[in-house]
Amino acid sequence: MKQYIELAINGLSYDVVISPEDLLIDVMRQQLGLTGTKKGCGQGDCGTCTVLIDGKRALACLTLAIACQGRAIETIEGLEDEGRLDTIQEAFVDEGAVQCGFCTPGMIMSAKALLDENPNPTRAEIKRGLAGNLCRCTGYIRIFDAVEEAARRRQAQSGKGGE
Ligand code: FES
Ligand code: FES
Repeated sequence: MKQYIELAINGLSYDVVISPEDLLIDVMRQQLGLTGTKKGCGQGDCGTCTVLIDGKRALACLTLAIACQGRAIETIEGLEDEGRLDTIQEAFVDEGAVQCGFCTPGMIMSAKALLDENPNPTRAEIKRGLAGNLCRCTGYIRIFDAVEEAARRRQAQSGKGGE
């Protein structure tokens, strides 16, 4: 049976009509036009559908939309600010961490979750933080470099750089 719910995504409220079995990834992409979050494997293996729910990483392909009521969802679309890329997005571009780009939104959302919790991660912590996000193009090194660079830039922006 279809039902009406409200979803809070990137600080905006969306009214949607869904079936209880509808997945967050499909509701976002098909109903709301939020296609930045990619659907790769659709079964929890690739991480391309990573979003943040209440600040924690979540796989939108394994998350029921109905379970997201009353929770704060963040997607890649929420990172830019009036056309300006977020620091992590800029670092990915500058470090050459984007090739085909399919994995990039999920990588960046995982990086955001990591850096919000741990602003100065070691390389090992970055690897753990991005575990579950697969990339078939880059070999990962540039992605790890980009997350390190994003951490440096975020710290500099918050006035803690160079300490
Ligand atoms: S599409 Fe969700 S993990 Fe692959
Ligand atoms: S850049 Fe192509 S899959 Fe990662």
